[in-house]
Amino acid sequence: MVPAVIVFLFVLVTQVSAFRFCPKCGKMEVPYPLSTGESCGDPRYRIYCDNGVLEFMSAQGFYYNILSINPWSSKLVISPPLIQENTCYSSDLGLGGLVLDENLPFNISTRNTVMLFNCSDSILLSPLNCSSSSFCRQFEDAGKGGSGCRGTLCCHFLKDASMTSHRIRVRLGGCTAYTSVVGKKPNDPIDSWNYGIELQWLPPF
Ligand SMILES: *[C@@H]1O[C@H](CO)[C@@H](O)[C@H](O)[C@H]1NC(C)=O
Ligand SMILES: *[C@@H]1O[C@H](CO)[C@@H](O)[C@H](O)[C@H]1NC(C)=O
Ligand SMILES: *[C@@H]1O[C@H](CO)[C@@H](O)[C@H](O)[C@H]1NC(C)=O
Repeated sequence: MVPAVIVFLFVLVTQVSAFRFCPKCGKMEVPYPLSTGESCGDPRYRIYCDNGVLEFMSAQGFYYNILSINPWSSKLVISPPLIQENTCYSSDLGLGGLVLDENLPFNISTRNTVMLFNCSDSILLSPLNCSSSSFCRQFEDAGKGGSGCRGTLCCHFLKDASMTSHRIRVRLGGCTAYTSVVGKKPNDPIDSWNYGIELQWLPPF
C-alpha cells in the first residue's frame, strides 16, 4: 500500500507543475495562463517570445507586438499594425486586418476606439461615425501614421459587444488602414492617446 500522504503529495506536485509559469520574455513577465512554450502556461493561451519581444499571433498568422499585460483584469494590449509610409495601407491589409481565432479564448475588449482610414463611400451606409468631427480626422490632420492617410475618408467606432469582437476588418475597396486607442475619453487631446488594441482572455477552466 502506498501511504495516502505520498499519494496526496504526488497529486499536489503534478497539479502545481501543470500551473508552471513561463519565464520572462525580455523585461516582460508572462503571467499564467499565457504560454510562450510547451513546458509552461496553458497551450490555449499561446503567445510568442521572439528575441525578447512578446508577440500575439492572429488567426491569419500575423504577429502583433504585445505592449502590456494586465493579469488582474485578464487583458493584454497589442500594437496596431504600422501604416506603410506614403500609402494608407495597414501592414496586415493583405490578411484582412486583425482576425482572432474564435476557438481560442481571446476577444477584442470594449475599451477600444477603432479608427478606419481611406474608406470607400459605401462605408457611409454603416453605423460608423465618418463625420468631419470624427476622432479619425484629428489623427489624419496631425499627420500620424505617415502622410498617406491624410485627407482620405475616415471613420471611427467604439468597440462594443454588438460589433464582432473577433475582428477589425480592412480591405481594398473598403477601408485600407486602421488604428485603435485604448480607454479613450471623448475629449482626450491627441497627444495623450494610448495607441493599442486591447484583447481580453477568458479564465482557463
Ligand atoms: C461623431 O463623433 C464626434 C466626436 O465624438 C461627435 O462629436 C459627433 O457627434 C459624432 N457624430 C455622429 C454622427 O455620431
Ligand atoms: C469577450 O468575452 C467576454 C467573456 O465571455 C465577454 O464578457 C465580453 O463581452 C466579450 N467582449 C466582446 C467585445 O464581445
Ligand atoms: C485607398 O484605397 C484604394 C482602394 O480601396 C487604393 O487604390 C488607394 O491606393 C488607397 N490610397 C492610399 C493613399 O493608400
